Amino acid sequence: RLLIWEEDMLIVKKFGGSSVADKERIFKLDTPNTSYLLGIVDEENFIGHIYYGKRLQGHDIAYRMRTQEAPFVPSQNNRERCSFYDCFPFEYPTAGLGDYRESCLSVRTMGGYLGCNLSYVSHRILEGKPQLEGLPATFADKETATTLELTCVDSHIGMKALLYYTAFCDTDVITRSVKIINEGTQAFYLTKVLSACLDMDNQDYEMISLHGSWARERHIQRKKVGYGIQKVSSFRGESSHQDHPFLALVSPNTTQEMGEVYAMNFVYSGNFQAQAEVSQFDSIRMSMGIHPENFCWKLEQGESFQAPEVVMVYSSQGLDGMTTAFHHLYKRHLIRGEYKDKKRPILINNWEATYFDFNEDKLVALIGEAKHLGVDMFLLDDGWFANKYPRSSDHQGLGDWTETADKLPNGIGKLTAEAKKQGVKFGIWIEPEMVNPKSELYEKHKDWVIRFPNREEYYFRNQLVLDLSNPAVQDHVFGVVDQLMTKYPDIAFFKWDCNSPITNIYSTYLKGKQTHLYIDYVRGLYKVLERVKAKYPNLPMMLCAGGGGRSDFEALKYFTEFWPSDNTDPIERLFIQWGFSQVFPSKTLCAHVTTWNKKTSVKFRTDVAMMCKLGFDIKMDDLTNDEQTYCRQAVQEYNRLKPVILEGDLYRLVSPYEGEREHTSSMYISKDKSNAVVFAFDIHPRYGERLLPVRLQGLEANRMYKVKEINLMPGAWPSLGGNDQVYSGEYLMTVGLGLFTGQDLSSRIIEVSAQ
Ligand code: GLA
Repeated sequence: RLLIWEEDMLIVKKFGGSSVADKERIFKLDTPNTSYLLGIVDEENFIGHIYYGKRLQGHDIAYRMRTQEAPFVPSQNNRERCSFYDCFPFEYPTAGLGDYRESCLSVRTMGGYLGCNLSYVSHRILEGKPQLEGLPATFADKETATTLELTCVDSHIGMKALLYYTAFCDTDVITRSVKIINEGTQAFYLTKVLSACLDMDNQDYEMISLHGSWARERHIQRKKVGYGIQKVSSFRGESSHQDHPFLALVSPNTTQEMGEVYAMNFVYSGNFQAQAEVSQFDSIRMSMGIHPENFCWKLEQGESFQAPEVVMVYSSQGLDGMTTAFHHLYKRHLIRGEYKDKKRPILINNWEATYFDFNEDKLVALIGEAKHLGVDMFLLDDGWFANKYPRSSDHQGLGDWTETADKLPNGIGKLTAEAKKQGVKFGIWIEPEMVNPKSELYEKHKDWVIRFPNREEYYFRNQLVLDLSNPAVQDHVFGVVDQLMTKYPDIAFFKWDCNSPITNIYSTYLKGKQTHLYIDYVRGLYKVLERVKAKYPNLPMMLCAGGGGRSDFEALKYFTEFWPSDNTDPIERLFIQWGFSQVFPSKTLCAHVTTWNKKTSVKFRTDVAMMCKLGFDIKMDDLTNDEQTYCRQAVQEYNRLKPVILEGDLYRLVSPYEGEREHTSSMYISKDKSNAVVFAFDIHPRYGERLLPVRLQGLEANRMYKVKEINLMPGAWPSLGGNDQVYSGEYLMTVGLGLFTGQDLSSRIIEVSAQ
């Protein structure tokens, strides 16, 4: 397979023929089901986009730059420069010459000149994937990827740009990134450096983005793309609750299983923009990269700037095809090696059970509950630290990472020992990038805080962000983990929180380079996380940012899982988890059973949480005996089914966003297609509604499968028609199962096992 792929992978061809084609070179990148073509054209050696879509077998001269034949070029013989720029499908457009669509690169020289232009000079074909300088990114060896590196220059400025394209052979993904190098005699300013662009003909595309807010993360938004720019973005210093660094263009008829999708996802945790622009000529430009707001990078002579990576996916099989590509990329090329095969611990968290109101006895009792429930770990949340300003609320103490003596007189050590005694692991919450102004850290190190020296401070959740561009602050943040681990080596897990975007944007450390701060912050964070990873390679960590405020691909290089949302109302979670699932696999998404929305049964709440990485954040004592028994059984069932739910392939069967939001269903299936777990939920069925069977997916048509309803409350009987019976895969996929009922807020889990 590899050989065929390598042979086909990249063809550099010089075509003879017409005067234009004569100068044209075409590069073709293939993934298993997609091809990407770009070419060098014109005496100025522009790099133009030719094709991205279903895999092409031929290497035909007909694949030429669209504009050469486009009717809108004013004169066929004499292409007027300006119109040419403005309609040419650039691979990496630059600003200031005559392309009036939004560019990817803009530059200002020391003399104040604007405008730049890139011409191709040479290329290299690299086996595998080169490491991006100073940035986490996807990885691949020579068995699984090949990289095309194009070198281009603007000789007026002395600027070199390296454009990277990596094609993967085991998943339908092409990644892109850009490196700008100053080879001139003077410094210059980069005022915008995006990472990828796709110029195509507009086919009446619609755009899908994952929009939200605190406690309403990753809701799916789909709308028609009209003329002009439509964009999603963040300049909060984090990838944000509001918009995920993801954008998909889809055909109007695209569904879960059918139709075309062009998607981009950014491997970066800071400011970003992703946009689609429809031009006067009905072309569409899709682009993604670092948000230019408050960005201006001084590139000294000899220095380089590496922009983060964009993951591009083309699917002709609807959103499911896109999701499969993203999930495979994560599992094969992004996840930290040490965690690939690790079992994810089921944990019980004390946050919603106690909030800040706990002491040693309460925690010891909760650790006992963890054992009783049968979970793997107890996680101690916020509120355990600080003495001068004890962390009794979110108004104080952040930054002072020693145990509050009157709450925990025997320290964390007592708790890790208690956990050990009960046979469960111990995890702990930290928020090391932040500080409350009411803290000893703030009093001692105001210069470590991102804040204006000359303005009143503005607080988000009563706190400020530490200046990670400063190496001393990096040491401090690393030290929070390191000191805890050194003192209490039995800590087995961290929940790393981050509850404020960057506010009051000023760094004492950066002095005259304030426009570097957003970038240097993220780079500083990566440096810290690299150190944590190097010293504690087997330490799993959950990333939280007041819920899902920093859940992005980059974070997955360091964290095993996200806390997707503080909203644990199971109905809301059905929508939130559906949104997250577009991009992230279930094993990266924590879902806890809590007391949010008591109108829903404990079974409904647990069934929703079992679709992702199950956990609990509830006082078991508050549950009835039956509910407690049910939860214990659910933990056992989950442990048994984990390999399918967390490692299997996801098929989304019925969207909660469809119709009037009455029902939803999804399933996971093992790689060998012998085991599946189907989840079905009735949210708000309508009176007298006709309940259609749900067709399963991904099974083998000619295999026989037994279907069995599981996860029942003690004493309850299965209500699935045809329960415990055997059906062919074909039947289940064409006729389906009657999974839905007319009863509000009911849920079912069905196990499907090959016979
Ligand atoms: C954030 C998190 C919660 C919890 C609190 C603690 O809001 O999202 O899960 O950890 O902080 O203060």
